[in-house]
Amino acid sequence: MTENTQRTVIVTGAARGIGFAIAEAFIKNGDYVVMGDLNLEQAVESAKSLGDHAKGDQLNVADEESVKHFIDQVISDRGTIHVLVNNAGLQHIDKVEDFPVDKWNQMINVMLTGPFLLTKYVVPFMKKQQYGRIINISSVQGKLASPFKSAYVSAKHGVVGLTRTVAIETANDGITVNAIMPGVVKTELVMKQLAGLAKEDGITEQEALYKHLLNRQHLKRFVESSEIGAAAIYLASDDAAAVTGEAISVSGGM
Ligand SMILES: NC(=O)c1ccc[n+]([C@@H]2O[C@H](COP(=O)([O-])OP(=O)(O)OC[C@H]3O[C@@H](n4cnc5c(N)ncnc54)[C@H](O)[C@@H]3O)[C@@H](O)[C@H]2O)c1
Repeated sequence: MTENTQRTVIVTGAARGIGFAIAEAFIKNGDYVVMGDLNLEQAVESAKSLGDHAKGDQLNVADEESVKHFIDQVISDRGTIHVLVNNAGLQHIDKVEDFPVDKWNQMINVMLTGPFLLTKYVVPFMKKQQYGRIINISSVQGKLASPFKSAYVSAKHGVVGLTRTVAIETANDGITVNAIMPGVVKTELVMKQLAGLAKEDGITEQEALYKHLLNRQHLKRFVESSEIGAAAIYLASDDAAAVTGEAISVSGGM
């Protein structure tokens, strides 16, 4: 799909879930992937399962020193960075009046400040080579809203704003910046949520899935994490050189 094979790709939060599927898709595309995650052990293990062109490394996207150290390491190993996928995320559900302030801060730090920090330290290398692809994993919650997800919805809307702004700033440097808005993907993040919703309503997880998560979706099924990986490969390809500042839903229709 792209002529730029063997690029250096960073995927954050890639130890499992959607991030892992994105890393796998880039490996299949012929690229080299650095999988940064809070969970070093799982990142290393997951990278190992993808072969020699994947490396797992420690990264806390919410911590500037950790981000700087991580980027320095990638540059020292690989010389430059071609593709950045900001994927790391987490969920917490609570009424706004009960939402713990430390949870709010953590979620904004991971899902909004994190993508800002990675972008800030990666863009100079992309500008130097006049080539780059930045892909931010937002959510359908970046255009819709659901009750009890004030921090998540705010961070996911925010990262769309970051995407649009950086796309304008880097437009003359061969860099594109886009967001993907996944729908409901079967990962730990969603399964934990589903268990909580089912318990609260006294219904099964399957019933909670249709009542709370798929009620607004056309296809009435989970989106596969590989379908998010495929969208990332497209946005990072030469075929998508004219696509920038966009937020693309891969959601089954939401
Ligand atoms: N699963 C879904 O239905 C869904 C839908 C829309 C958007 N998303 C988004 O996709 C992304 C991945 O979600 P997922 O469902 O795969 O979640 P997940 O919980 O399965 O995986 C998240 C990964 O991020 C890592 N992580 C968390 N905090 C981090 C930090 N500070 N620094 C580095 N890594 C960190 C975790 O260790 C984990 O490996 C998130 O941004 C999420 O909001 C998920």
